[in-house]
Amino acid sequence: MGGMESYFEFRTSNYYLTEDWGPQLAAIWKERGWLSGGVWLIDERVHTLQRAWIERYVEPLILGKIIIPSGESSKEFSHLEGLYERLSELRLERATPLVALGGGVVGDLTGFLAATYMRGVPLVSLPTTLLAVADASIGGKNGVDFRGAKNMIGAFYPPQLTLAGIQLLESLPPEEWACGMAEVIKTLLLCPEERWRQFSEYCRRQLGMGLVAQEEPLSFKERVARLKGDRSELLELLEGVVQRKLEIVAQDPRDLSGVRAQLNLGHTWAHALEKASNYQLRHGQAVAIGLRAAVILAQKLELAQTAMETALVEMLEFWGLPTTIPSWLKWENFARNLRYDKKCKGGESLFILPVTWGRTAKVELVPVEVLEQVWAELADTED
Ligand SMILES: NC(=O)c1ccc[n+]([C@@H]2O[C@H](COP(=O)([O-])OP(=O)(O)OC[C@H]3O[C@@H](n4cnc5c(N)ncnc54)[C@H](O)[C@@H]3O)[C@@H](O)[C@H]2O)c1
Ligand SMILES: [Zn+2]
Repeated sequence: MGGMESYFEFRTSNYYLTEDWGPQLAAIWKERGWLSGGVWLIDERVHTLQRAWIERYVEPLILGKIIIPSGESSKEFSHLEGLYERLSELRLERATPLVALGGGVVGDLTGFLAATYMRGVPLVSLPTTLLAVADASIGGKNGVDFRGAKNMIGAFYPPQLTLAGIQLLESLPPEEWACGMAEVIKTLLLCPEERWRQFSEYCRRQLGMGLVAQEEPLSFKERVARLKGDRSELLELLEGVVQRKLEIVAQDPRDLSGVRAQLNLGHTWAHALEKASNYQLRHGQAVAIGLRAAVILAQKLELAQTAMETALVEMLEFWGLPTTIPSWLKWENFARNLRYDKKCKGGESLFILPVTWGRTAKVELVPVEVLEQVWAELADTED
């Protein structure tokens, strides 16, 4: 982006990360020739909580505005017809961008609309959750849910431009930070150990990770607030994980060769846990437990060392994530759901297991008894 100042640029992917894109939006629009503005799909909460920012920077660039109710149900296939109708009422032209301003839900929905409306219109993404900045807005996938099946219908359609600005994360509640941190931690496991060490040293030095309760470490909310405020630290952390995900995606853009599968670390368990819990467990929480399960399984198969589990559990707990399976979840129910995982082959699931930082192994045909042993190690024994 000629002359435009940005903190980090990942040129090949059109992904740009900085503190705040607001002041530069108008210039970017002009440079791209998007003279009629854009059709903005805005998450309802973001629309309220970022009102001042939107009035100042977005309003001048609005051809049309569609407010998307907060929550996964906005991704239901059945809403599409109404949305296409709105786009045709707005007389959207082929050169006018659709702009997603929200988390993964708005991002996935807008991406699908942009990919399909008139066989494709420009797509711009402004992610507003940690999960969307670090994960969902990278890799060109989008999708909607069909009759209860998540992301059943979708396309690969990378945005023309992804503008990630951490200023928008300011209003994000701590629980959403925790969910996003699960994916951040996942990607940190896929990075060289040096990155992990850097971030855990920051957590120790600045946020009191590793201190015992009597030493009055910061509460979870205070940690989140502190990390939000340490903008250069946050940018550096995000730069690392974004870069890593982009690298992996670039080697396997359509998720065909198997390289991209490593991003599913922890997810075989996570998906089954989410389903078995009837979605009581949030995705990030399920991923946290799934990551630990992957490490334990890797140890049982003598692929990983125990140091990794200790470091992982400390980090997950520090960021408000669970590392044990709640006692109300039953093995039988989980095992049934594991078999329906979309990565399953012939009734057995495919597991991505960490060998060490930056290295995974793919394991199929894990005997069910071994999985049950992992479950037993993860079961919450406190009550
Ligand atoms: N396409 C992909 O590659 C990919 C990858 C991972 C996840 N996903 C999808 O992403 C979705 C989950 O994304 P998510 O966790 O961002 O969920 P989300 O979009 O539902 O956002 C979570 C919550 O945060 C609120 N919110 C968003 N931004 C905010 C802000 N700045 N301040 C205050 N509140 C804010 C939302 O209203 C919502 O209540 C799922 O549908 C999942 O399937 C897609
Ligand atoms: Zn995930």
